[in-house]
Amino acid sequence: MDIEEKRSGPAGFERRVGVGIRWKLFGFLLSLVFLLIASATWMATEVTQATLRRDLIQRGAAVSRVVALSAGHSLLANDPLGLDRLVSETKANDPDIAFVAIRDESDVVAAHDRVKERGKPYRPVPPLLPLGTFGDTRADEVVRDGRRLIEYTTPISFAGRRLGIASLGLSMQGLATAQRSIRQRILLAAAVTLVVAFFGTLVLSSIITTPVKQLHRGVLSLAGSETFQPVPVRSSDELGALTRNFNRIAETILAQRTTLQNQKTNLEKKQLQLEEAYVSLEKKQLQLEEAYVSVIHVIAASLDARDPYTIRHSDRVAQMSRALGRRLGMDEEELSHLEKAAIFHDIGKIKATDDVLKGAERLSSANEEHKSHPVDGTEILRMAPSLHRYIPVVRAHHEWYNGEGYPDGLKGDEIPLHARIIALADAYDAMTTDRPYREALSPEEAIDEILQFRETQFSPELADAFAKMVREMPPMDDTILKSMAL
Ligand SMILES: [Fe+2]
Repeated sequence: MDIEEKRSGPAGFERRVGVGIRWKLFGFLLSLVFLLIASATWMATEVTQATLRRDLIQRGAAVSRVVALSAGHSLLANDPLGLDRLVSETKANDPDIAFVAIRDESDVVAAHDRVKERGKPYRPVPPLLPLGTFGDTRADEVVRDGRRLIEYTTPISFAGRRLGIASLGLSMQGLATAQRSIRQRILLAAAVTLVVAFFGTLVLSSIITTPVKQLHRGVLSLAGSETFQPVPVRSSDELGALTRNFNRIAETILAQRTTLQNQKTNLEKKQLQLEEAYVSLEKKQLQLEEAYVSVIHVIAASLDARDPYTIRHSDRVAQMSRALGRRLGMDEEELSHLEKAAIFHDIGKIKATDDVLKGAERLSSANEEHKSHPVDGTEILRMAPSLHRYIPVVRAHHEWYNGEGYPDGLKGDEIPLHARIIALADAYDAMTTDRPYREALSPEEAIDEILQFRETQFSPELADAFAKMVREMPPMDDTILKSMAL
């Protein structure tokens, strides 16, 4: 059987489910035809066998009557030779006749095809099944001498006088043979009919279901491809009308699909244009932010340059911070962020007066103004989204490890790591450069000073690492610092 597994067609359409409609129709029609043929075969067999049996019984009755009629004169004339001839000729004329006997009115056998029976009393046998009477002839099914026979009994009369009885046995063997033969022919005819019906049913099923299958293929074609071949219409019945209507619906769907496709293409084009415009805007925003960052760089450098004592201060702090970050195992991206935060760390001083810038913060009048520069720096960085990441670091670079710093009084690990590093580099650079109120400390003196403030101003682990770094590096020089930072 053409049984296919369930398969998914285009867009989830089912291509075939279980047994196809053609095979279902074929199975139904074939079963029907088989039942009809079987019923007809059974009926034909029964009728022909009954007819054969009835013909045989009637034939035997007719023969028995002829024998009785023929024997009357010979019995009356006491003509044993005539009786013998009648019996032998009757037996010889029909191979189905098992025996022929003529008995007189005393039930003594007057003539028999077996001579030894003559003169003996007739041996009656009980009937197994009465088969009816045909005129004055009675027929019974009996078993005589081990054989199944139809035994006929016809009285012999002549001129109104009862003279004896004619008995005739007809073998049923011939009947069985004839019935078997006709049964075989009927079965052969039924087999041939069944084969013809098989192929006829197959063709009929195909003819009936072909339009349905074509419609099915049409639906799959419509669902799965851009092009659609109309389903051929080959009949003018309901299926033909259905096919024509399907073709019209398919054309409508295809037209709508084309329209939708065009609209989708247009939308995709517009989306692409919007994406390009968005990318362009992003580029411009990036350029603006880069320009802003450059400006901040310039401002930081300018701030340092306002005071001859702090010139290039931000660069040195950045390079030392980067060098320490590298020792701490930071990757290149984090080092870059640390370096930028260090450059921006004092950008808030742009609002400060020259007194504050030039180190006069030790004067109480300028101290409060000085303490505002970390917060002022965050306000400047807030104007560029790409610089927002540096705000917490710039704001916290004057926080102390013990919480006594400003502006928020953060302590310990609350202070961002970058801010704690920058604080060290910032303090070290301030101490190792000349100031109006004091001369520069030596690196070792500056380190001693820093170590005195570990756990108060500075993170102890970072202060130790910074001291170790400074002690291991050659005498302070910008070029050397840059090479260390790299
Ligand atoms: Fe600062």
